[in-house]
Amino acid sequence: MKRAEGGPRLQRKLLAWLLGPLFLLLVLDTAAAYWNSLRFSNLAYDRALHEIARELALHVKPGAPRPQLELSPGEEALLLLDQQDRLSFRVTAEDGTVLGGDASLPAPQQAIPRNGQPVFYEGVMHDEAVRIVAAWLPAGNTVVQVQVAETLHKRQRLTLEMLANVVLPQLLLIVAATAVVWFGVSRGLQPLQRLRRAVSDRSHLDLSPVPLEDVPGEVRPLVEEVNDLLARLARTFDFQNRFVADAAHQLKTPVSGLKAQIELALRETDPERVRHSLAQLFISADRLSRLVRQLLSLARNEPGALDTVQLQPLDLHAFALEVSMDWVPHAIRRNIDLGFEGPDEPLMIDADRDRLRELINNLIDNAIRYSQEGGRVTVRAGRAADAVKAELAISDDGPKIPLAERDRVFERFHRLLGTPTDGSGLGLAIVSEIATLHGASITLEEDTDGIGNTFTVFFRMRT
Ligand SMILES: Nc1ncnc2c1ncn2[C@@H]1O[C@H](COP(=O)(O)OP(=O)(O)O)[C@@H](O)[C@H]1O
Ligand SMILES: [Mg+2]
Repeated sequence: MKRAEGGPRLQRKLLAWLLGPLFLLLVLDTAAAYWNSLRFSNLAYDRALHEIARELALHVKPGAPRPQLELSPGEEALLLLDQQDRLSFRVTAEDGTVLGGDASLPAPQQAIPRNGQPVFYEGVMHDEAVRIVAAWLPAGNTVVQVQVAETLHKRQRLTLEMLANVVLPQLLLIVAATAVVWFGVSRGLQPLQRLRRAVSDRSHLDLSPVPLEDVPGEVRPLVEEVNDLLARLARTFDFQNRFVADAAHQLKTPVSGLKAQIELALRETDPERVRHSLAQLFISADRLSRLVRQLLSLARNEPGALDTVQLQPLDLHAFALEVSMDWVPHAIRRNIDLGFEGPDEPLMIDADRDRLRELINNLIDNAIRYSQEGGRVTVRAGRAADAVKAELAISDDGPKIPLAERDRVFERFHRLLGTPTDGSGLGLAIVSEIATLHGASITLEEDTDGIGNTFTVFFRMRT
């Protein structure tokens, strides 16, 4: 089975949307943790550095012209003793003279406040990064600037230790969160996977609705639409199947009749009888071609044909009159009085001309065909009683269609028992299909005077 394009994409998208921001958050959090560890390790060790600076100031003794730093090598070694880092210092008098220590210690970039507040800054000394404290400190009756520098080894170690303590649990959290999200998304999308399988596993002939029980609310409307479409498809298939079966059945009889007639004619030798047979054959062939035309028309006007319908504004009054006029010669031949009644106004409706002509033709044809010689047929166009619809009524004074048959005459191939002339029983089925395509309704009423039949079609008027 071909996997639909974009099938698993939703899952990937969900995971990306959930895990992406999660990872970003964790990265940001780690950066914040690093910055914090750095701050705290500096805070802790800066204090010690400041302490050493103050200690150094105590070794400055007053003197003239400037104070003296009295620090024995032993004392210096003790003061600067450290397991991990190298320390160095410099003591400077107010006039800038270096009283002792390492002259290469980096100078501060900013002024050191005179009130004794320490300033901390970073620099490079003997190719090594150092952190330095600088402060003006009292020494007897004068002040000296003391700077102490320290390499960064223990600070870096502390920072890394603190960071490791924060980051390791976070990494575990990421792994756990990924697993949970993955599992959750896969589980959440399972109904969709099942739905996909339910649809892809079915046969192309199975047009039954897709079961809705397990379908999540978000996709339910989609599945309902699909089911709706399936139902319509099923109806169309059903119609087509029945139509083909009916058509084949209906054509079988006249075609075998035709064959029998031809066989008979072939056996004739008398030219006069052959002529007669041919004339009969022509009549049969004519009926057959009418049947085929009506079958085609039925197929063309089935409800699915909506897209080929061309509705255009049309005056029902003028159009019905025009179509009725075509029937006058035929009515005269049958000695039927064909009349037309219309209002003084045009009746504008939306209609497909060819189809509307077919509808009217079928109704007039029936009215003339099934009423007795010398009868009366009336075509009437006008506003319906509700004044918003237009109606077209075709009445005759022939034999009444029994009450029980009123609906059935609109069915395909249905003819009243004992209906004399030939016909297929498709005319009214076509009429009702065309009415449906126009959004029109059709009724069959008994004539007001109690004889004959009136077929009335109600059209929506253009506004
Ligand atoms: N105006 C009418 N008067 C009497 N019977 C009618 C009339 N119109 C239709 N019918 C009956 O309804 C049947 C179906 O009509 P229709 O669908 O046009 O098929 P067909 O005309 O080919 O028989 C006719 O056979 C006839 O029995
Ligand atoms: Mg007919």
